[in-house]
Amino acid sequence: MNREELVRSAFAAMQNAYAPYSGYTVGAALMTRSGKVYLGCNIENAAYGPTNCAERTAFFKAVSEGEREFSMIAVVGGKGGKVNSLFVPCGVCRQVMAEFCDGDFEIIVAENEKNYKIFTLSEMLPMGFSPKNITE
Ligand code: THU
Repeated sequence: MNREELVRSAFAAMQNAYAPYSGYTVGAALMTRSGKVYLGCNIENAAYGPTNCAERTAFFKAVSEGEREFSMIAVVGGKGGKVNSLFVPCGVCRQVMAEFCDGDFEIIVAENEKNYKIFTLSEMLPMGFSPKNITE
């Protein structure tokens, strides 16, 4: 699957978003180094705090299936199910990425299949705290 297809998968994942409180729907498509793709959407909660972001849904699905190595993630999001601008992952999700991914992990932020930008995790989380900090 190429980057465009991964973006398309993120749009498909967004369709399953459960966002009755914010109305902001997010989709993520996470690719493992072996090429397998895990989808995620945001899942909100009446108590607000238990809300899970789309990126973490994708990561937790993959990690709970035994995956540990990832190459890239595509993310899309917007109010009312419409994507009008580039959506970027929140800080908590970037931290979860830093747990499992190296600095060259790609984060693809997209408006549509043709219009997307690629950032590395190092760019999105400079000087991040990672497992290396507590094992070295
Ligand atoms: N959200 C995500 O799914 N990913 C992020 O990185 C940031 C925010 C969700 C959480 C909430 O359901 C909605 O977007 C509005 O914050």
